[in-house]
Parts: sequence; structure tokens; C-alpha cells
Amino acid sequence: MAEIEKQKWTDIAIPQTTTTVYEALHQRRMAWNFENRDVPRDAVERMLATSVWAPNHKHTEPWRFFVSTKHSAHRQRIADFAEKGILARNSEDTRMASAQREWTLKQPLIIFAYSVPAEREDITKENYAAVVCALHNISLSGVAEGLAVTWETGGIAKLPGLAEAVGGDPDWALVSIATVGYPDEESPSSRTPVSEFVTWAE
Ligand SMILES: Cc1cc2nc3c(=O)[nH]c(=O)nc-3n(C[C@H](O)[C@H](O)[C@H](O)COP(=O)(O)O)c2cc1C
Repeated sequence: MAEIEKQKWTDIAIPQTTTTVYEALHQRRMAWNFENRDVPRDAVERMLATSVWAPNHKHTEPWRFFVSTKHSAHRQRIADFAEKGILARNSEDTRMASAQREWTLKQPLIIFAYSVPAEREDITKENYAAVVCALHNISLSGVAEGLAVTWETGGIAKLPGLAEAVGGDPDWALVSIATVGYPDEESPSSRTPVSEFVTWAE
């Protein structure tokens, strides 16, 4: 990658929002049904801009994102890839092949989030952890934009060759296929109170 001048946080025009950090943390929800509404590019740019501020040991910058808009040629190619990939696995799985094709075409916006490996296994693990944080930054900033970010690691994420089909390198690790859109549902999510998992060790 060409050498590009780094930015400090003071160089950034931080988007103004009334959503507090704690609201974003508690209110962020994934969604499986989205409104039939385009996702504005400027909102996605603001969300993506937060990703590189994730904690990242040794600043390896391991994140690689591919943003696939709904009616793009890229999306069509991924839908073709999905259909063919399912059929290559099992030629009788025609229903699953068309379901995955439809799923791919239907998502308002998709971010394919990858982590690049390092020469050492421990750094490869740290890289992966950093990209998880980066994608979570994108998810949390989505709250301020009214957008849900849904992580998928099943379905087409499991198909061999996805990284190359998306535009990446074969050895990159997929962190998630993140679908982005305006949620069209109330999330039923709930959580066990954290006190069940915490020991104040004294
Ligand atoms: C790493 C990761 C992978 C996930 N993969 C899938 C998936 O393949 N399919 C799916 O339906 N949900 C997937 N999810 C969503 C979770 O199953 C879970 O439903 C979600 O975190 C709960 O929603 P909430 O965070 O809004 O409470 C994934 C979440 C994470 C963090």
C-alpha cells in the first residue's frame, strides 16, 4: 500500500450526534429485516471512518473492507458466486442456492470485513481481534445513524473462494459479512445481567 500520511484525532471532523456512547453501547441491535431504503453513502463513510480508530497492537492496520452497494455489478458477482458455490458443494441444493442468491441481492448494503494475517500466529490473532473491534466501531456508530449492522458468519461466508470473489486475497480471514440497513423490526434481544459474570477479585 502506498505511504499515506497518518491523521491524528484532532485532524478529524468528528460527526456531531446526540447519541451518547452509553446509548450506542446499550441500544445497538442487529436486524434481519430492513426497510426498502437506500443506505446513504455519507453515513457509511462516517461509520467506516471510526473503524481505523479501533485498538490495534503494533498498529498493523490489518483491516480490509469491501463495501458492496445493492445494485452494483460487484453485488451481482457475489450473488452468482453464492449460487454457484452452493451448487458446487451439492448440485441438488437448488433451493439453498437460489435462497443465498436472493439473500445476497436483497441486503441494502454489505460490508465484507477481512483481517490480514501476519508472519507470526500471535500477531495474526491480535490482528483478527483488532478487526473485530473495528467492525464493532462501525456497528456502534451505526446507532447514531439509525442503521443496524448485522454480522453473518454462516451462509455464503462459509463458501471457499469468497475472499477472492469479493476482491481480496485468499489468505485473508473473514471477520464477518456485515449487512447494513434501516431496521424494520423491534429487536427482542435481552441479556443476562453482567453481575452473573463478574467477580470482583479481592
Ligand atoms: C461474530 C458474530 C457472528 C455472527 N454470525 C451470525 C450468523 O451467521 N447468522 C446470524 O443469523 N447471526 C449471526 N450473528 C448475530 C448473533 O447471532 C446474535 O443474534 C446477535 O449478536 C444478537 O443480536 P444483538 O446483538 O442485536 O442483541 C453473529 C454475531 C457475531 C458477533
